[in-house]
Amino acid sequence: MDVRVVNQNLTQVQADVLILPLFEGAAVAAEIDQAMGGLISQVMGAKDFTGESGQITVLYSGGKIAARKLLLLGMGKESKVEHRSLRRAAGVGARAARESGASSIAFSLPVLGNMSEAKVAQFVTEGALHGLYRFQSYKSEPKEKSQVSSIAILGGSEAEAGVACGQAVAEGVNLARSLTWMPGNHLTATILAQKAEEVCQAGNIEIEVFDKKGCEALGLGLLLAVNQGSKEEPRFIVMRYKGNGGKGPWLGFVGKGITFDTGGISIKPSDGMWDMKDDMGGAAAVLGSMATIARLKPKADVLAVIAATDNMPDGDAYKPGDVIVGLSGKTVEVRSTDAEGRLVLADGLAYAVKQGCEKLVTASTLTGAANIALGPIRFGIVSNNDAWEEQIFKAAETAGEKGWRLPHDEEYYDLFKSPIADMSNTGTGRSAGTTVGGLFLMKHVGETPCVHMDIAAQIWRHSADKFEDVGATGAGVRTFVQAAIEFAEGK
Ligand code: BES
Ligand code: MN
Ligand code: ZN
Repeated sequence: MDVRVVNQNLTQVQADVLILPLFEGAAVAAEIDQAMGGLISQVMGAKDFTGESGQITVLYSGGKIAARKLLLLGMGKESKVEHRSLRRAAGVGARAARESGASSIAFSLPVLGNMSEAKVAQFVTEGALHGLYRFQSYKSEPKEKSQVSSIAILGGSEAEAGVACGQAVAEGVNLARSLTWMPGNHLTATILAQKAEEVCQAGNIEIEVFDKKGCEALGLGLLLAVNQGSKEEPRFIVMRYKGNGGKGPWLGFVGKGITFDTGGISIKPSDGMWDMKDDMGGAAAVLGSMATIARLKPKADVLAVIAATDNMPDGDAYKPGDVIVGLSGKTVEVRSTDAEGRLVLADGLAYAVKQGCEKLVTASTLTGAANIALGPIRFGIVSNNDAWEEQIFKAAETAGEKGWRLPHDEEYYDLFKSPIADMSNTGTGRSAGTTVGGLFLMKHVGETPCVHMDIAAQIWRHSADKFEDVGATGAGVRTFVQAAIEFAEGK
């Protein structure tokens, strides 16, 4: 996608569709209204278009301005506009423009009292690229009639940096979406590692990939246990972005990369099991964020780890009751082979701790319980450290994502005691499933502050809306990126 800032006025810009954001209850700029012969104020006067959020009216310009069509985009009340709504409106507008056949679109940036032009440009770019995203890699004949190939953002020099930033973020998010879309037969652990190598090569990030033998040598017993039933080798992917020269302090990201989760011997019901191709969404978020970080270049050192395998039943598979031990040295009784995510993450986290990370953030599609507790609106946050937890909670808000903090009282640790090992990999019945999953991870990081994001209910959108199609969302990427930016600022 060609995204450019152009310093032209509304009447001059050449495009199939010019998108004009309008606030509810506010007047349209005289310049464009006059050029259009008063048509916009007429439409607004007739209450056909009030500027209500999400409203769209497409007008033919009839040669009165350089753009072929003018799309009036309702923004809602100006006082209510913030990061998320702006991003969303831009995406809705861009999709409507595409729907009307546009291949080139132009955006007029709304002027907001409480947001800089750079930020407005960033969020509009982010939203447009997010909204326009489609995954069509496996369609032999893409059925959609039009495709947008260029976006012009009307703005000055201040908008340039914002657009670059918005594009870097959106492309990281969209990379994560594409990886998440890929089914288990197309995205094995080996292929995921190759994708990581491509990202790292393009972004000048160091990468080390451990194969099965390498994992054995490292002592990743939990990842290897999950992999035992698979014909596919695991991959343990370690990336080092040295934005602070590699002298530290290091921020650690860890992602769950289960390329397909059958549940293993504790097999899942077949209904809807295909969904479990998205069980590497946490890994996708980590990788997408690294792609963005490589472009934004925050002055932070970031160690990113992806623990990848599928989870399959087989004669060799690990079994309920097995006692296993991984890199942290803690023993685990396997109560369910379907609680595999916490196992592979625990090894990833223990590795990041051993490598000297000072602070940790993980993302994973860890528990179905996260959807029961919070639904698709907010992801679950579990931590061992209140201050770090608060910071990541806020970083998510800043990045336009939403999490919610779950408790971590000592008593919750009792829910996954084991009579035979240091801990069990499941809790008691269905109690506090998301908290238990998160606190299991905390048992493997010692004192290192760690925040776990359970994005199981956010990673896949099950019904389309005006902004996003059904499918992968790229959840988590923006929070990771924001965490790195704040870490660079010494927060
Ligand atoms: N990948 C699943 C979690 C999941 C479930 C994500 C539904 C998205 C939608 C995870 O590996 C899993 O199976 N978790 C179990 C844990 C249980 C066995 C303690 C779950 O949530 O049922
Ligand atoms: Mn599972
Ligand atoms: Zn899983």
